[in-house]
Parts: sequence; C-alpha cells; structure tokens
Amino acid sequence: HEADAHRTDLMTITRHVLNEQTKYPESRGDFTILLSHIVLGCKFVCSSVSKAGLAKLLGLAGETNIQGEEQKKLDVLSNEVFVKALISSGRTCILVSEEDEEAIFVDPSKRGRYIVVFDPLDGSSNIDCGVSIGTIFGIYLVKDEENPTIDDVLQAGKNLVAAGYCMYGSSCTLVLSTGSGVNGFTLDPSLGEFILTHPNIKVPKKGKIYSVNEGNAKNWDEPTTKFVEKCKFPTDGSPPRSLRYIGSMVADVHRTLLYGGIFLYPADKKSPNGKLRLLYEVFPMSYLMEQAGGQAFTGKQRALDLVPGKIHERSPVFLGSYDDVEEIKALYAAAN
Ligand code: AHG
Ligand code: MN
Ligand code: MN
Ligand code: MN
Repeated sequence: HEADAHRTDLMTITRHVLNEQTKYPESRGDFTILLSHIVLGCKFVCSSVSKAGLAKLLGLAGETNIQGEEQKKLDVLSNEVFVKALISSGRTCILVSEEDEEAIFVDPSKRGRYIVVFDPLDGSSNIDCGVSIGTIFGIYLVKDEENPTIDDVLQAGKNLVAAGYCMYGSSCTLVLSTGSGVNGFTLDPSLGEFILTHPNIKVPKKGKIYSVNEGNAKNWDEPTTKFVEKCKFPTDGSPPRSLRYIGSMVADVHRTLLYGGIFLYPADKKSPNGKLRLLYEVFPMSYLMEQAGGQAFTGKQRALDLVPGKIHERSPVFLGSYDDVEEIKALYAAAN
C-alpha cells in the first residue's frame, strides 16, 4: 500500500540529512551531528513555548540586549539552550546570536568546523499573546579551523552552506535547506521526531499577498510607496492583493514560502538600514527563498551578495515570489 508507506518508512530529518550527505563522500557526519543539536534546541524551545503561560515564562527578563530591546524570559532561555546545545555538539567554532553582543568563540577543546548564526527566538513581541514565533539559523564553514577569526563570520550570505527556521505555531515545523532545495519537517510529539511533511518546497512564481508593516508608510521611500500603492490600486486591471502581516518574520516568511507573495521590511527615514538583522534574519531567509525558486533583494542588490561589516548589521529586505520581487526591483532601478 503505497499510501501507507510513509507510516512505516519514517523519513525523519536526521535520515533525510544523512541521505543528502551521501552526496558528499568526504563528509564525516559532522553536519548531521551539528543539525541534531540544532534540532534538540528547537524541540526544547517548542516545548517551552507551548507551556510558557504555565511555566511563568511570559513577560520580561528585566535585561536589555545589544539591539536595545527588552529581553523576554523566553529570549534569554532559548538563547542559553541553543548556545549550550551548539557548543556541546563539538562541531562549532564561532556562534553569533541576536541576544549576545559579541560573537562566541568556542573553546578549542570543543571546536569544530561550523559557524552558526542564529536568532534563538524571533517575533518576541508576539510571545505573550500566543502568536507564532520561531528560531532562525544559518551555517557557514570556517576558513581555517585552527584559527577561527571574526572574518569567518563576516561572510557574504551566498557562502552559507545551510539555513533554516523552526516555527512554533499550531504545529512545530522546521524548514531546512543544505543547498539542494528546501524541505519542511513537522514535529510528531508522540515520537519526538521531525518527520518530512513538505518535500521540495517551491515558492509560487507570482503571489497575491503583500506583507509589510503599513504603520511605517509615512517614512517609506518612493519605490516602496509606489509598490504598495500598486498592490492596493492595480493599474493593469488585476485584483488588489491581500495584506497579511503577523509581525513574526518566521511566520510571515513561512506563509510567503508556501502561499507565494512578497515580504517587505524596507528602509525608512527612521531606520535607513531597515530593522531586520543581516546575519541571522535576512541571510537565512534569503537563502531559503532562493533555494525555493524565489529571490531576495535589499533595494540595491541581491541580498546574499551583501558582505556584513558588523555581526548585528541590519539591511532592508524584499523577498518572496520571483515575479513579485522583480516588480520592486524595477521600481528601485527606475528611481536610481
Ligand atoms: P525579534 O523578535 O527576533 O527581535 O525579531 C522581530 C522582527 C521580526 O520577527 C519581524 O518581522 C519584525 O521584527 C517585526 O517588526 P515590526 O514590529 O517593526 O513590524
Ligand atoms: Mn529581538
Ligand atoms: Mn528576529
Ligand atoms: Mn529574536
């Protein structure tokens, strides 16, 4: 019974990655071990998020991070869990987290070849009201394992070897690419395993949804203003597009990946580099979008071509359906 095959042929995320790694004969399973520790972190955060209200995990931790944001208890907890899990994997040498001002250089005794940049809890403003939040991560290879330096972290997004996110919503879904397409896995709580549920995700070439915080419209530049105007008042006779904005990047990007459309966090007069952080928000999501057949643009160039100057650098981003991003690229090109 073909239909029932998946019930007995459990394609877990570990098995799936092992299959993919067979393409790289030289791989020593290090990536699989690294990923299993990222997955452990995601399972922990998933469990904590689902009972945050019960475990008094709502509210503020009373600290402020380098971003100038008041850290939520779950921000701090998730960050500690991921840092410890990644270090204990023995496969990392540098970690960059939204919640840590400086990059973490792993002790030589626990050092491996991988650099992980991550946002342990994305969408923190939505924690206390139960709206979907997530974890975002990107993985680079160090240039010289014996001598990791900060330059190893300041690599263009196109050098990523893998990226993904985990969304803590109605179900816990982990979306991952290791460079040959995008796959989605859903946590089966009864097994404690992520099972392949969305093989080979492709973002629709054109969408009917735009996703932006319209509250910033007063400060937008001309091309963004014109694009949003076109979405609301199309001049080519097509129907107006729907606005969907959740305010958690992971949730907004996941919907864009599956349904199509465009997600925008533009620059504005207040924040000339936009709000989203290049290394652990813009790069991983841009990598996934390109792997799924979409694209990601900064207003000036392909997002993955950017080289960060600092680990918490921000960038504007327009990402999603290939044709939708083409539209906004044309408007920016016409403005220059
Ligand atoms: P984080 O919670 O990790 O700091 O990220 C929040 C980000 C991102 O999740 C979301 O797209 C964006 O903030 C929403 O910003 P606005 O509230 O300004 O729209
Ligand atoms: Mn934050
Ligand atoms: Mn974030
Ligand atoms: Mn965050």
